[in-house]
Formats: sequence, structure tokens, C-alpha cells
Amino acid sequence: MGDFRLTRTLDENAAEAALRTDVREGLTGSPKSLPPKWFYDARGSELFEEITRLPEYYPTRAEREILLERAGEIAAVSGARTLVELGSGSSEKTRHLIEALPALDTYIPVDVSESALRGAADVLLSDRPGLRVHALVADFTRPLALPPTPGPRLVVFLGGTIGNLRPAERAAFLASVRAMLSPGDALLMGTDLVKDEAVLVAAYDDARGVTAEFNRNVLAVIDRELGADFHTADFAHVAVWNREQEWMEMRLRARTDALVKIRALDLVVPFAAGEEILTEVSAKFRQEGVRDELASAGLELTQWWADREGRFALSLSVAAAAAATEDADVREGARRGVGTAPSGAGADVTAA
Ligand code: SAH
Ligand code: AVI
Repeated sequence: MGDFRLTRTLDENAAEAALRTDVREGLTGSPKSLPPKWFYDARGSELFEEITRLPEYYPTRAEREILLERAGEIAAVSGARTLVELGSGSSEKTRHLIEALPALDTYIPVDVSESALRGAADVLLSDRPGLRVHALVADFTRPLALPPTPGPRLVVFLGGTIGNLRPAERAAFLASVRAMLSPGDALLMGTDLVKDEAVLVAAYDDARGVTAEFNRNVLAVIDRELGADFHTADFAHVAVWNREQEWMEMRLRARTDALVKIRALDLVVPFAAGEEILTEVSAKFRQEGVRDELASAGLELTQWWADREGRFALSLSVAAAAAATEDADVREGARRGVGTAPSGAGADVTAA
């Protein structure tokens, strides 16, 4: 393969320790819950890709529509030489952005799924052999050390994955992204928008049952990694719109009373028939909310693009300190991607 490097920031022991802690805390708490990042082993990553092709799952198509229309504009504004993508998965939509950035030097995809990172790099490097790809197997909610690469830097967070974080997690995450940005850098973020409940529920409870299989996959991961004896078929997939929080919830509901053994934790988890595990929230947004959350993290929203049907939006934002300066040149430079500071050059960036 071309210029490809992969760095694991979590060794296998650390990853398993994190899974053990999350499972113990999540399944002994009330109500029971599990963090969504554990869906994405190789099978989970494949299932997510299958979800993106379902007729009911509109977010991927809507975001691709915006990217196809705006890639040139985004590329011109950012002029990025380094593209960092958090939760990059297959990088399938990112290709449109990469094609629009002829001066791009390095692509840094960051994901917990090593199989997704390797699959994406194979495709990207055959399309663009001169590109450097430095993949990071990392949890984007943890401090992230990025390799030193030339600026300007464009950080992208696509798919609406920001919605899989709770509000407090989003605030911490956006502050850490803000800390990655130097003058001239920008953040491009996809957010799914609030819409009709029936459309949302169908997107998370498709007729073919692919989302149900994706949801149950987290139990298969725990069975394999921690020696548990969940019988995945004993749990029903549930997708509910939480109107108050404006987020979709995916849950797994025990069909019968059960005692689940988790050998690696020396733990037996009791389930009453009908009891649920909350496995994912997927928040839906409004423009004002996104603007406010960005502003609270020190980011200024500069562009907002929605798809034709108003289902999904991409926002571009820059570090507010650069945007607020009295110096019009700096501000203009930051927007056009000609900032003076070579972002990330010479220093690893550690985001809190
Ligand atoms: N950005 C792609 C994939 C979205 S699926 C798209 O728009 O289609 C969400 C991706 O984020 C998955 O590839 C998953 O493995 C990754 N992911 C989820 N939680 C993560 C975390 N905490 N740290 C790093 N990657 C994470
Ligand atoms: C990755 N993330 C944005 C997806 C979502 O829509 O929240 C994950 C997903 N869950 C169910 N279907 C897809």
C-alpha cells in the first residue's frame, strides 16, 4: 500500500479494561445502559455500513448530498493540507472532500474500529496514491495526540455522530476539538435535524431488521470479549423518540427473566422480563442549539448548509478567539485558510 501508517493509542489490554469498566458500571447501574462505541467491532462496522444503504436511513444520503454540492466551497474556505476525521468509519463520504482538496498532504482518520480504518485506507490510497494516511485507533472522547502535520487543518466529524454523545460529553468533546484548532483551521460537523417522529423511528427501526442486528451486536461483543452468556435473540430491539430531550433512543428489552453471567467480571446480571438496556442516544439538532453549543466551546459557526429536504446539516466553525479578533486580516485569513500559524507543526496536540 502507499504511504500508510496506523497507530494504536489503546493497546488490547487498555481497550479490554475500558470495556470491563463500562460494562460493569452500565449493567449494575439503574437504568441499565452501555456506551455506543462498543457496537463497532468488525461486524458492527459492517452492519453500520449496511444501515447507511437502507431506504429508511436518510442521514447518510442527506449528508452526502450536501457534501457533493459544497465540497468545492468547503475546500476553498479551508485550503486544508491536513484533514483530521473523528469517527471516520469507512470514510466513504469523505472521499468527496479529499477529491476537492488538491493540496491535501495528510489524512488522519481516527476511529475505535481498526477494521474500518484499514478498509478505508485501502480504498483511499488506491484513489489517491500520493496521499499520506496516518490512521489512529483511538477513542475521540479521550485525550488525543495528533501527529505533527502541515496546516491549515480541517477537522471533520460527520454522520451526526456528535448526537451519540450526551450534552455534557458534547461540551467536553467540542472543547477538545477547539483546543486542536490553530488560526486558519476549521471544524466541519454533521448534525441530524429534528423532524417528524415517524421518519425518525423508521430510520432506527428498519423493516429488514438491520438496525436491530446492529443494536444486538453489542451483546455479541460482550459475549466474545468478556465471556458473557447473553443470548442475543432474547433481547428485542426498541427505538423510541424522546420528545423532551429531542433524541432517538435505542434500547434492548429482555423478553424473559434472565440471569446473565459475565465471566471476566465475575458478575451475574439479573434481568426482569421487559427490563431495558439503553444502548444509544442519537440527538437531533436545531441550528440555534448547534450555534450555542459551538459558542460555549469557543467556536464560532461561520457556515450552515442543509440538504434540500432540511433533514440534515453541515456546519463550519472556527476558533472564536481568531474570529473575534479586531484584526480583520487574521479573521479573513482564518476563514480562507491562509492563517499564519502552521497548525500542529512541530507539536503533538493533546486535547483535554
Ligand atoms: N463518519 C462515518 C461513520 C459514522 S459511524 C459516517 O458518517 O458514515 C460512527 C463511527 O464512529 C464508527 O466508525 C465508530 O467506530 C466510531 N466511533 C464511535 N464512537 C467512537 C469513539 N468514542 N471514538 C472513536 N471512534 C468512535
Ligand atoms: C453513528 N451514528 C451517527 C448513528 C446514528 O444514527 O446515531 C448510529 C446508528 N444507530 C442506529 N442507526 C445508526
